[in-house]
Amino acid sequence: MAVKTIEWKNDRVIMLDQRLLPHREVYRVCRDHHQVAAAIRDMVIRGAPAIGVAAAMGVALGALKTPAKSFDRSFERMLVTLAKTRPTAVNLSWALQRMRQIYLGQRARGIEIVKQALKEEAQKIYKEDIAGNRQLGRHGVPLLRHAKKIMTHCNAGALATAGYGTALGVLRALKESGETFEVFVNETRPFLQGARLTAWELKKERIPATLITDNMAGSLMQGGKVDAIVVGCDRVAANGDVANKIGTYTLAVLARRHGIPFYVAGPTSSIDVDCPSGKDIPIEQRDPKEVTHIFGKALAPKGMRVVNPAFDVTPQELVSAIITEKGVIRPPYLQNIRTHVSH
Ligand code: MRU
Repeated sequence: MAVKTIEWKNDRVIMLDQRLLPHREVYRVCRDHHQVAAAIRDMVIRGAPAIGVAAAMGVALGALKTPAKSFDRSFERMLVTLAKTRPTAVNLSWALQRMRQIYLGQRARGIEIVKQALKEEAQKIYKEDIAGNRQLGRHGVPLLRHAKKIMTHCNAGALATAGYGTALGVLRALKESGETFEVFVNETRPFLQGARLTAWELKKERIPATLITDNMAGSLMQGGKVDAIVVGCDRVAANGDVANKIGTYTLAVLARRHGIPFYVAGPTSSIDVDCPSGKDIPIEQRDPKEVTHIFGKALAPKGMRVVNPAFDVTPQELVSAIITEKGVIRPPYLQNIRTHVSH
């Protein structure tokens, strides 16, 4: 399936507007880094690896528009603007750091060289993400080969990456390897990434899938209807704690209660070895309206107090394995994560 989540075309960044899926496929054109930053903040594009790719392209785009005489000052400001968009997924700062290294490395050669190098680096990050997801998918196949009923949460598919996906990449690879299975898709309140995006992707891919509301997951596990769970991640701390979409922690606790393996799939760019544990991961708090309203229609009484954390942290002891483009990380995570990322 050719979902074009994001693309660099004629010195513009084109993104599929994920807020309108599954009913409308509308592409947005970003002409400068401010527009890219707004697209990330407003969820036109979302999902940790896709946010990283978008930020890298945003830097390249912003650089192209910046005159040589104010380049250095503008460049640092541009990084700050993009860094401020969403706090939890570490792929954002990872991509910005990579772009900054290119700038520093090429600066002495002149601004025109820097601009070209930034453009090339953004393309490289994009291509590496797709290739990495395919590798990640293949590494996940042996873990899920015998699972006939697999649950996933949020959207960790082609839409959340440059292409192919992480958790959904594993499911794609599983299908490509000839396995048959079905997927339970959690709707993922409040933003409904499961109902709107994962359901859309799996349907396009002809992978048998059943949509459930989030509060049905425990009952399905209790009834023996789930063999394995695979989710994506926004940031993995050095000790193996995993930040992912709100509701992931609940699933991991339930999985442990029912003896169901709980797998996390994500690129090594989602691993933050400088972040000691889940306690140190910043959790994005989003607009209360996402909870009180659905598609602009109020559900709750006016003035109702709301909390809306977009992510939660699953402690490492509930994670059976972490699948990356380099292979599979098993506990003890504190040791094995460091070795894994440095190889
Ligand atoms: O708020 P979102 O939609 O950006 O959250 C996305 C998730 O939590 C995904 O599971 C995660 O980014 C992994 S995407 C491959």
